Amino acid sequence: MTDAILDRKSVRTYEKKPLDQHDVDLIGDIITKLEPRKGPFGYQIRYFFYNQETLIDEEAKKIGTYGFIKNAPAFVGGVIENTFFAIVDYGYLFEQMILMLTKEGFGTVWLGGTFNRSSFDSYTKNNEIIPAITPIGYEANRRFFEKAIRYMAKANSRKPFSEMFYLENREQPLFDQFVNEWMKPCLQYVQIGPSASNKQPWRIIMDQNQVHFYLEKTPNYASMMPFDMQALDLGIAICHFEQGLIEQKKRYTFQIKQNVTQEGWIYILTILIES
Ligand SMILES: Cc1cc2nc3c(=O)[nH]c(=O)nc-3n(C[C@H](O)[C@H](O)[C@H](O)COP(=O)(O)O)c2cc1C
Repeated sequence: MTDAILDRKSVRTYEKKPLDQHDVDLIGDIITKLEPRKGPFGYQIRYFFYNQETLIDEEAKKIGTYGFIKNAPAFVGGVIENTFFAIVDYGYLFEQMILMLTKEGFGTVWLGGTFNRSSFDSYTKNNEIIPAITPIGYEANRRFFEKAIRYMAKANSRKPFSEMFYLENREQPLFDQFVNEWMKPCLQYVQIGPSASNKQPWRIIMDQNQVHFYLEKTPNYASMMPFDMQALDLGIAICHFEQGLIEQKKRYTFQIKQNVTQEGWIYILTILIES
């Protein structure tokens, strides 16, 4: 999956052709595999798959992506409870879907703002929300790059480690040359992850074998939205960090601690690295 983290980027222009049956089945299998999974806070997503065999532009108008997203033949989205930590779980679980789709060669893009939520109203019940959807299709003009180039290309549009990651406390920013060998890729996978408007609001404090995740909210950002958009970004960061740990064959647990606070940041959870 870490290859998919390096490969993934937002795709907004697709080849104008419907998905073939093999791909429809593949996407169905991915959804079936993901459906029983729970996030670190215990929430699950109810997925829906919206395949448009003809009338691609007409459907795009209805979903409200017309103009932003070109020629997408299908969409997948999900429903979850509208509470802060459920939205974190949505970010964590839906990013797994994005990575699995990327691995299969599909183009995707997280859409939290630029779609018409009410066109999916029939999928939601009281106090539920569709925080984000993604188009699925074949990227127009796909290019392939080597691993090192893939990281560098993304890191150019991201904050440096020292603005997001810290050692023991916020007075000690972490510079990438001082990070130990196995931890570095884990942090790089967080760094190159997608976030709403590329705000990168994730903050991490490393304290021995504990990795504390926080959200530093961007002032006034997405305040008109009916849910906490940046909670999704934190779920994505946790997903990427975990994929790094899996790649490094580390044992770890998620812990939700009491009394871990930082002024102005929202504490999300801690990953305890066991060995
Ligand atoms: C939670 C979330 C919501 C997003 N919402 C939108 C959106 O509504 N419209 C859009 O065009 N891109 C959206 N994006 C895509 C981001 O703009 C994009 O991930 C970011 O700029 C980084 O670029 P990259 O994905 O190519 O690495 C969203 C991303 C995330 C994680």
